[in-house]
Amino acid sequence: GIDPIDHIIWHKNTVSKDDKQKLNQHKSMMIWFTGLSGSGKSTLANALEKVLHAQGIRTYLLDGDNLRHGINKNLGFSLEDRQENIRRIAEVGKLFVDAGVIVLAAAISPFEIDRKAARDLFEASEFIEVYVKCSLDECEIRDPKGLYKKARAGEIKDFTGVSQPYEEPLSPELVLDTSTQSLDETLEQLFIFIKGRL
Ligand code: PPS
Repeated sequence: GIDPIDHIIWHKNTVSKDDKQKLNQHKSMMIWFTGLSGSGKSTLANALEKVLHAQGIRTYLLDGDNLRHGINKNLGFSLEDRQENIRRIAEVGKLFVDAGVIVLAAAISPFEIDRKAARDLFEASEFIEVYVKCSLDECEIRDPKGLYKKARAGEIKDFTGVSQPYEEPLSPELVLDTSTQSLDETLEQLFIFIKGRL
């Protein structure tokens, strides 16, 4: 059969990613936060973005929850929809990385295969997977949006950790334990790690 992609030719841009990074005076990269709902992904990503921004670094935060109001508004929480959700976040993130920006993506991204597909879009040094680790018990105690309670009551189906699995990352660049450490402590570890990659 004829695949339309066979007739689409890739144009190499004249102004390269390297050129853009030089203008920004820092490397661009994708910092991918994965973890259970309520583990602290968005909180940490926001806190890191604030610190980086204060240092004059160009950043962009792609938050799973927020993107589901726009570019991902047609997606739910089935395995297929989560896969497409992650694919879009990763592809959009790649565009920003090409533009020379440091991208922070915060999405549960519960499946290793989807996180691996996201990783594979980037150069090895460009993708930093941060596992925001927090026990299910602790996330359920926090329950900041009351979603675990609803999931336990059967009002939300396919809820990560309750009625759908969360696969722990196999080889993340960084693990931040938010159940035993404060936000300031985990933020410092994260910032030190990223600073070493700039
Ligand atoms: S995923 O798995 O990466 O596609 O999910 P993500 O885009 O990060 O969206 C997760 C947020 O959606 C809310 N929500 C649910 N989460 C998990 N499972 C189900 N079924 C579900 N339904 C709604 C929830 O607020 C998640 O937000 P966070 O910030 O992770 O708590």
